[in-house]
Amino acid sequence: MSTTTERPLTEPTFEALAKRVDDAVTALGGLDPAAREVAEELRSAIEEIHRAGLVTMVRRMRSDGAARDVLFELVDDPTVHLLLSLHGIVRPDPVTHANQVLATVRPQLHSHGGDVTLVRVEDATAFVRLEGACNGCSMSSVTLRNLVEEALVQEVPSISSVEVLPNEPTPTLIPIEALRIGLDPASEGWVEVGPATELAVDDLSPLSLTTATGERAEVIVVNAGQRLSAYRNECAHEALPLDNAVLDLSNNTLTCPWHGFCYDATSGECLSAPGAQLEQLPLRVDDGVVWVRVDG
Ligand code: FES
Repeated sequence: MSTTTERPLTEPTFEALAKRVDDAVTALGGLDPAAREVAEELRSAIEEIHRAGLVTMVRRMRSDGAARDVLFELVDDPTVHLLLSLHGIVRPDPVTHANQVLATVRPQLHSHGGDVTLVRVEDATAFVRLEGACNGCSMSSVTLRNLVEEALVQEVPSISSVEVLPNEPTPTLIPIEALRIGLDPASEGWVEVGPATELAVDDLSPLSLTTATGERAEVIVVNAGQRLSAYRNECAHEALPLDNAVLDLSNNTLTCPWHGFCYDATSGECLSAPGAQLEQLPLRVDDGVVWVRVDG
C-alpha cells in the first residue's frame, strides 16, 4: 500500500476552492446538531491556527521594506485576498463589502416587496438600483431607501454617499389590433373624450365614458408633460378610484391616495408591488381630439 499522498499537478482554481468551501458549508447544514457542533468546533479551531499564523506572517512582512511590497502584491491576488479577508486581516474590496452589507438589509427589503442591486462603486459613491417597494414616492419607499443608504455609508468605510440610478423603462405592450382605426371608431369601442387642449396639463382627469353599446367605463387620463396615457380608474391594490392620485412629474409617478401604491405614470407599472399593473387603455389623438378605447 502506498503511503505517499498524491498532489495535484496544478493548483486548484479560485472558483474550485470557493465551491469546495460552499459545498462543505451546505453539507454541514445537513448534520444532526451534535455532529454539527463538533464539525463547527473543528473548523473554528483550524481557522484560529490559520489566523494566528497569517497574522504573524503579515506583521513580519509589513515591518520589512522589501517584504512589504511583496505583501501588497500578494493581497491583490484573489485567493490570497479572500483568505485574508475571511480571517478579518484585510478589509474586503468596496464592492464585495457593499454587497455583504446589502445582504444584511435585503431580508427587510424583501419583506416589504423591495430589493436593491449594487451597480458599481466609484469615487466613494455607491450606485444602486432600487426595485419594487424601494422605488417610488410612498413613505415606505423613502424609509427603505434610507435603510440602504445608512447601511452602506455606516458599514463600508470607503463609501460616503449613495446614488440611486433610474430603472430601465418598461414599455407597456398594447396589441396592435387594438390600435386599428376603423371608419366608425365608436363601433369598435372607441369613445371620444374631447379636445386634447381641454385635458388638465401635468395632472390627471377622471372621466366617466359611455360606449356606443351603452357600456360605462370609469377612466383616468394622465397628462404628464403632454404625454397622454389612459387607465381604467381602479388601483391594482383594492380597485379603489384614483381620482385624487398624486402625479409627481419629477419621478413620473402616480401615487394612489388610499394606501400609497406607486405607479409609473406612463406605463402603469406598479413600483410598489412588482407584477401589479394599472389596466392601460388604448388612447389616440385624431385632429386634436382624444379617443380612448374602453371596449373592444
Ligand atoms: S387602493 Fe390604491 S393603494 Fe390601496
